[in-house]
Amino acid sequence: MPITPTREITAAQRLDNVRYAIRDLASVADEVTRQGHTVLALNVGDPNIFDFKTPAHLIEAVYKAMRDGKNGYAPSPGIPEALEAIRGEAARKGISTVQDAFVTSGASEAVDVCLTALVNPGEHVLTPSPDYPLYSAVLCKLGIAVTPYDLNEDDAWQPDLIDLQRKINSRTRAIVLINPNNPTGAMCSRRMLEQLAELTRRNNLVIFADEIYDKLVLDSGEQTEHISIAAVAPDLPVVTFGGLSKNYLAPGWRIGWGVVSGDAVAVKPYVEGIHRLLRARLCANHPEQYAIKPALDGPQDHLVEVRNKLRARRDLTVQWCNSTPRVSCVSPRGAFYAFPRIEIAEGDDVFVKELCRAKHVLVVHGSGFGQKAGTRHFRIVFLPDEPTLAKAYKSIADFIAERYK
Ligand SMILES: Cc1ncc(COP(=O)(O)O)c(C=O)c1O
Repeated sequence: MPITPTREITAAQRLDNVRYAIRDLASVADEVTRQGHTVLALNVGDPNIFDFKTPAHLIEAVYKAMRDGKNGYAPSPGIPEALEAIRGEAARKGISTVQDAFVTSGASEAVDVCLTALVNPGEHVLTPSPDYPLYSAVLCKLGIAVTPYDLNEDDAWQPDLIDLQRKINSRTRAIVLINPNNPTGAMCSRRMLEQLAELTRRNNLVIFADEIYDKLVLDSGEQTEHISIAAVAPDLPVVTFGGLSKNYLAPGWRIGWGVVSGDAVAVKPYVEGIHRLLRARLCANHPEQYAIKPALDGPQDHLVEVRNKLRARRDLTVQWCNSTPRVSCVSPRGAFYAFPRIEIAEGDDVFVKELCRAKHVLVVHGSGFGQKAGTRHFRIVFLPDEPTLAKAYKSIADFIAERYK
């Protein structure tokens, strides 16, 4: 047999800047595990790893769908009953100008499809900094330069409108708004959404509104309800992303969706582009789509318990942050992440790796989310129960005291 010389198969250069710090840290965790330690993972936003369970009636709906033979391909946009429920939910969120809805494999696929269907080479999209890394990963894949706009830590991580305006030019197509936010847990006020809408209107942009955490609002003060930017600005082209991963505790099912709202004539060609891509990838997971209607229209009891647990864990987290030397934190108002600042002389990537090696607690470095130059942060997932969190926080405090005397 002829011997073929082994040649390295190089990955495409456009992937050079694709990072997903949340999972990239796995190699450090593996190293610690191989040494016989158990790593406490405060890095992945998966409620099911902790004491949160997918509501039983949703599991039943998927199981029934499988038993009933819903195991073939689904229609590309999604099954009709799910689309109807998603439109109903959009109406409850106050979105009055829905022009389209579609089901995807997680909100992640909706983000990928909607960015791909919009942006040409040479154009750009404004993404928040810090951000959820999916957006920059998809843009890198498309060969589109990432243009971050600041979230202002001194203003409870609200979008910095001056920075946003400064970065808009004739090639800007869209603004990404993650609300409630990952990684900061911040939420936008109505006033902020109105200002953002006005800026978008003046510059003829699309808004990508990632509202995957919209039912995990933890505040009991002045703003207990989430406000959708698509409801505040019915005239603007907005794609609102949602899904079952977070509010309905089923991230492994990979069910998400997009809702396009705005002026019917204006968004028509864009919606057609989205559907071309949706057809090319055939469909989202079929049996799992049968959980969408019972999720959105059925009992919401689990949410009361989820929010109560998260509120207590958020309070414990913020209390720890603000009583630990070198650490400070803006209190998260939604989702299940805190993004404390840490005053240290070395990079926060070194901090998280050494923390994992020394104390077996895994958090994600702020630089993995993009952050203001010169600042250092880490992201905590506060999903574990209070005793587990308290133990983790004691380990982190000990590590800080030992390493940064
Ligand atoms: C802001 C944000 N958007 C989207 C996603 C991905 O959601 P899905 O599991 O529906 O793909 C996540 C997951 O953590 C997220 O935090």
